[in-house]
Amino acid sequence: MVKISPSEITPEHLFLNRRQFMVGAGSAAALVALAACGGPEAPPAAAAPAVPTLPLDQLPAALGHAEPFASTTSDELGDPLNAFDEITNYNNYYEFSTDKQEVARLSPNFVTRPWEIKVGGLVNNPKTYDIDDILKNFDQEERIYRLRCVEAWSMVIPWVGFPMSKLLKEVDPKSEAKYIKFTTILDPAQMPGQKMSILNWPYVEGLRIDEAMNDLAIFATGMYGKLLTPPNGAPFRIVVPWKYGFKSIKGIVQIDLVEEMPVSTWMDAASNEYGFYANVNPEVNHPRWSQATERRIGENGRRETLMFNGYAEEVAYLYEGMDLRENY
Ligand code: MTE
Repeated sequence: MVKISPSEITPEHLFLNRRQFMVGAGSAAALVALAACGGPEAPPAAAAPAVPTLPLDQLPAALGHAEPFASTTSDELGDPLNAFDEITNYNNYYEFSTDKQEVARLSPNFVTRPWEIKVGGLVNNPKTYDIDDILKNFDQEERIYRLRCVEAWSMVIPWVGFPMSKLLKEVDPKSEAKYIKFTTILDPAQMPGQKMSILNWPYVEGLRIDEAMNDLAIFATGMYGKLLTPPNGAPFRIVVPWKYGFKSIKGIVQIDLVEEMPVSTWMDAASNEYGFYANVNPEVNHPRWSQATERRIGENGRRETLMFNGYAEEVAYLYEGMDLRENY
């Protein structure tokens, strides 16, 4: 396997910033530059993916495939799925590394069992879920979604999971609850990136409740018919396909229903560049690069970015009357 060094795929000034982080000298401003790798992206290196496996009898049928499995080869627009190796070897997961091609190497032994997810805050029925109970008690389904990163690359991914609305109904939000706050595990012993102050840990994200109740919003437990890999956010993450990828928070251990809009990790790092909504919008550029086009991993050249990542019919109603430039 030919290993591509970060210097080959990253403009030099960004690569130098990355080196600074490695020695612990990263500042928030430099981090923002790092996130801005909107230039041409190299195809992912094909390393052996680390796939967690459980005995088959402990897996629901939807996650019981020994080999990567998806029921179809393309999305509803006719575009091919990205390969399993691409999806598991090219990851943004800053808790492990700021280098997308290093995350898989640094995370194969990440412990995902036992794993509990506490759901509380403004709910009538607070609950702590064990991940294996979630797998058994919520019907798992396949959802083929485009993932569009704010850095202007994209993939088509066959997730396995279930609608967020199903879990929210169980915990029964109180009428004062307006938003949902999601929090990633804080475990610097396992996550080397959390030993560095590149972001304020733990990673936090949020949605408005009506966004979370939209049928497209899912909790993901698997991908390609298998349990999620650590680089993809095992064992439990969200996927909100009409928003930039940074909203789809990984490794979730806590979910709180809250009254006030949560401050997400990227808002906290650079609120002028990353807003709460982060809806994919080709007409609203990032302050430092265009969002009009994107590079689909595995393709040459660029393709046009679609409003709401191609899901406008399903989600545009959520933002009626809102100024999408102001609410970026
Ligand atoms: N969640 C956590 N906890 N930490 C992260 O660094 N990166 C986000 C998002 N979720 C991130 C995260 C970003 S920027 C993107 S583009 C997607 O995960 C990438 O998801 P993928 O690696 O499964 O493609």
